[in-house]
Amino acid sequence: MVATTRENFLRHLCQTSPEPLGLEIERAAGIYLFTRDGKRYIDFISGLGVANIGHQHPHVLAAIRPQLESHLHVMVYGEYVQESQVEYARRLAELAPVREGVVFFCNSGTEAIEGALKTARKFTGRKKYIAFEGGYHGDSYGALSAMSSEIYRAPFLPLLPEFEFLPFDDLGALSRIDEKVAAVLIEPVQGEGGVRISSPEFLPTLRRRCDEAGALLIFDEVMTGFGRTGKLFACEHWPDSKPDIVCLAKALGGGLPLGAFIGRRGIMQTLSENPPLAHVTTFGGHPLSCAAGLAALEVLLQENLITRSAELGEFFLRELRALAQAKPKIREVRGLGCFFAIEFQMPEATQQFVQRCREQGLIIGWTLHHSTIVRAAPPLCMADEQAEEALQIIKRAICQI
Ligand SMILES: Cc1ncc(COP(=O)(O)O)c(C=O)c1O
Repeated sequence: MVATTRENFLRHLCQTSPEPLGLEIERAAGIYLFTRDGKRYIDFISGLGVANIGHQHPHVLAAIRPQLESHLHVMVYGEYVQESQVEYARRLAELAPVREGVVFFCNSGTEAIEGALKTARKFTGRKKYIAFEGGYHGDSYGALSAMSSEIYRAPFLPLLPEFEFLPFDDLGALSRIDEKVAAVLIEPVQGEGGVRISSPEFLPTLRRRCDEAGALLIFDEVMTGFGRTGKLFACEHWPDSKPDIVCLAKALGGGLPLGAFIGRRGIMQTLSENPPLAHVTTFGGHPLSCAAGLAALEVLLQENLITRSAELGEFFLRELRALAQAKPKIREVRGLGCFFAIEFQMPEATQQFVQRCREQGLIIGWTLHHSTIVRAAPPLCMADEQAEEALQIIKRAICQI
């Protein structure tokens, strides 16, 4: 008997959990995923923060085609002049929250974090880093070293030394940032930490403390970038707090793999000297990914999807908070734009809720650090009827648990 695709999936692809979702994807379009068994799902996590403008946007596909025909990979990042890379870097430098930003393209969020951490060390000559409890920055050794969770650290010890973890959003703890610190790494809104939002005074105070100590401030906007929170970048909610380096990925590539860290020119210059070529990558800034990413960014701006993210977020938060009043199983609903969390009292409720949603055609997921928190990151392009349909599924699922 010939093995089915599902059997081959289980046999030949390395599994990362005992119970993968295992949906057999046939195609995707807009906010929907379509599976081989004829079902349609609302992708309420946007492929985990990637499909902010929806799947298969025609402008993205149209931008990929000419790039496909002219050239694919031609040389390691940083050597040849490639128009799609240059154009995207120019546009990102205009929009990024970093003054005189210079872009280093890589392939993923983890790589963006690695690059930013290495750049900070090389620029400052200091060894110590500060990160925050509940953060998530990726799974390579450097990025994992920035995660406080003992469960995920333990199997891979020893990690990088000289990482200190401060409680998130705790002003009192910021005095721990001193002249030994190369960089402070933070998500303005923690994703895997359960959509935890920095208070209005926290990031500005952190910015000031970093300036006093001469430490670089790195914002991880891998998840929160590109309109997710109702601003182009989440840190715009804290206008007095701009990073020295911002890390991006996920929606950056418009559905293709792409990461970037963008830093001030003076800082990024350190990568071209003493020695040169000390941090390079073959595929970083792949021309196809850059063409797709730039097109996706223009769609986001032209279709006013950042404003739409804020509107949709308000709608879901208002409706879900009203529901939470009547349902004691829900502890809290919180969020910013189209990035919100439902926190349940019990882990069982969380799992059942996610399953009930899936049975009714909506994909939503929990977070790495909390078994009681469900995180939503729907596409920012949802029409009113689609948002209403999603809300009805969520409401029904909550009533069923
Ligand atoms: C905030 C944050 N940083 C970094 C990463 C790592 O990105 P990647 O999976 O592209 O390596 C993620 C991934 O989920 C993330 O959410």
